[in-house]
Amino acid sequence: MARINKIGVLTSGGDAPGMNAAIRAVTRTAIYNNIEVIGIKEGYRGMIEKLFIPLWSHDVSDIIQRGGTILKTARCMEFKTAEGRQIAYNHLKEIGLNGVIVIGGDGTFTGARIFNEEFDIPLIGIPGTIDNDLYGTDYTIGYDTALNTVVQAVDKIRDTASAHNRMFFVEVMGAEAGFIALRSGIAAGAEAIIIPEVTDEVEKLKQMLKSGRRQRASNIVIVAEGDEGGGAYKLANDIKEHYPNYDIRITVLGHVQRGGSPSAFDRVTASRLGYAAVEALMDDQKSTMVGIQNNEIVLVPFRKAIKLHKNVNRSLLEIADVLAG
Ligand code: F6P
Repeated sequence: MARINKIGVLTSGGDAPGMNAAIRAVTRTAIYNNIEVIGIKEGYRGMIEKLFIPLWSHDVSDIIQRGGTILKTARCMEFKTAEGRQIAYNHLKEIGLNGVIVIGGDGTFTGARIFNEEFDIPLIGIPGTIDNDLYGTDYTIGYDTALNTVVQAVDKIRDTASAHNRMFFVEVMGAEAGFIALRSGIAAGAEAIIIPEVTDEVEKLKQMLKSGRRQRASNIVIVAEGDEGGGAYKLANDIKEHYPNYDIRITVLGHVQRGGSPSAFDRVTASRLGYAAVEALMDDQKSTMVGIQNNEIVLVPFRKAIKLHKNVNRSLLEIADVLAG
């Protein structure tokens, strides 16, 4: 295989705090190894529309602390078609790229995997999503920052909930998974955590309400957006109907969870993964995600990262139940 001497980097799917730190790490590690770097803007769309910009060391100065992504991001429908991917490949060839690092979640890696089955330009993935729902890595970039954002918001809600003895249903992101809800729920001392991975939590909540033991207190229920019950509004309405004695309010945190300056943890994770991704390309890897397991860098084939299901930590669930009181 020819020596890697010019690579691309892009961010795709939902942005996540720490993506910029990853772009910086990729760029600086590549330059250190005499590899030229091209930033591809707006995810896979940038491959198709030739949105290429050279990245030099100074281009990634002053970005490690910024949320969002300097390369912008998109969910590109055209890349899902064979024609779209062919155009993308032609454009990458034209500018002489011999590797691309894609930063994103499972949708990003699904596209990358198909591309690598069809074409000879190796793609390496860096997990970047607040959802933390990728198999093969303990953490994805952005998850820790999003957790801290949720916890700060819920702490504030707790103040007013406590002042009024109210019950708040707080809906958090996470797509189909409950990772954000579970961990933020524990950190914020939630009375109940409703996630798609568990089915008996609503029943437990109802039992608690029936007992009346928390009627003159604040109650925080964290609801994962992906829960099969249909989210915070639906659940709160159901509870209101059955337990009219509780004074209920609803907050949907929404995209505030995706923004903000990345936490120290996310910056370090992004720096490690960015560095590892360039090394993986230099080691002739392809169709592979770099991840972190037990604090060590690992390589996980896209096939596994996408197809296998990452389970929530059952012991955390147990802890949450016991500590809810
Ligand atoms: O995957 C990240 C995420 O923020 C999910 O938690 C959420 O369901 C989704 O993206 C929202 O997507 P959009 O920004 O396109 O509304």
